[in-house]
Amino acid sequence: MSDYSRLARQLEALLDSRDWLTNAAQTCAFIMQEVTDLNWVGFYLQRRPETLILGPFQGKPACNPIPFTKGVCGAAARSRQTQRVDDVHAVADHIACDADSRAELVVPIVVDGRLWGVLDLDSPRPSRFSDDDQAGIERLAAIFAAASDFNG
Ligand code: SME
Repeated sequence: MSDYSRLARQLEALLDSRDWLTNAAQTCAFIMQEVTDLNWVGFYLQRRPETLILGPFQGKPACNPIPFTKGVCGAAARSRQTQRVDDVHAVADHIACDADSRAELVVPIVVDGRLWGVLDLDSPRPSRFSDDDQAGIERLAAIFAAASDFNG
């Protein structure tokens, strides 16, 4: 089980830039390094209306673009609610970028009332993400957002 209080302190110390691009790259590299059993971690950004565009990530090349109407990431963007899926094979609306992915956690990131993007984690282990993981990753996403300027 990850110690998210420690990870939160470490991420705060790591994000010493205000540049969202640098911070996004560092955040997904940090999560991939520190959280066990992940095969993909990355950001999708709303760079066109109602469309998620692939941003900094760790893992295999991924699906791009993703409309708000599709997939688990689209559901997170539309609803602005974290989406947690125990087994993506059982979800009709899942976009399969990598057949190895089984569990998924997608956290929306809202900046100044606008859906800026989402932070997406995939795991090859079904039911990988607990309540504790959800709260912990939401906390890390909030640290990323608070540390970053989004107008540059
Ligand atoms: N599975 C996601 C697509 C993104 S990849 O997992 C990197 C979805 O259904 O939205």
